[in-house]
Amino acid sequence: MKLIIAAIKPFKLEEVREALTTIGVRGMMVTEIKGFGSQSGHTEIYRGAEYAVNFVPKVRLEIVVSDALAEPVVETIRTTAKTDKIGDGKIFVLDVENAVRVRTGEINDDAL
Ligand SMILES: Nc1ncnc2c1ncn2[C@@H]1O[C@H](COP(=O)(O)OP(=O)(O)OP(=O)(O)O)[C@@H](O)[C@H]1O
Ligand SMILES: [Mg+2]
Repeated sequence: MKLIIAAIKPFKLEEVREALTTIGVRGMMVTEIKGFGSQSGHTEIYRGAEYAVNFVPKVRLEIVVSDALAEPVVETIRTTAKTDKIGDGKIFVLDVENAVRVRTGEINDDAL
């Protein structure tokens, strides 16, 4: 299993969620965060104004999927969250050791 962590622009959340659902993602965590990338937030536009501070609001997605679904998830986020402007986000992929569905005790791929 893989954990995909992605920082995306907040207004892209619904479109990305819908696209991921379509390719078979059945769960995710969503957190409102602030962050910065290679421009340190300085020149990035958010809601029409240049953001005055170093941190820009983003949405963080955490998605655990089977190994087979990892690449499609990355590609779907990449193509859906893309606006061709700076600050479109970043995607990280990590290995996951175990997963457990609390209600049933199912583990790993069956727990996703
Ligand atoms: N190296 C990193 N580690 C952890 N999070 C990061 C890293 N780089 C970017 N992020 C997160 O991703 C968000 C978006 O980054 P961003 O898209 O601005 O990256 P970038 O490298 O500056 O690319 P671009 O030049 O397209 O803006 C940041 O606000 C931050 O939350
Ligand atoms: Mg940037």
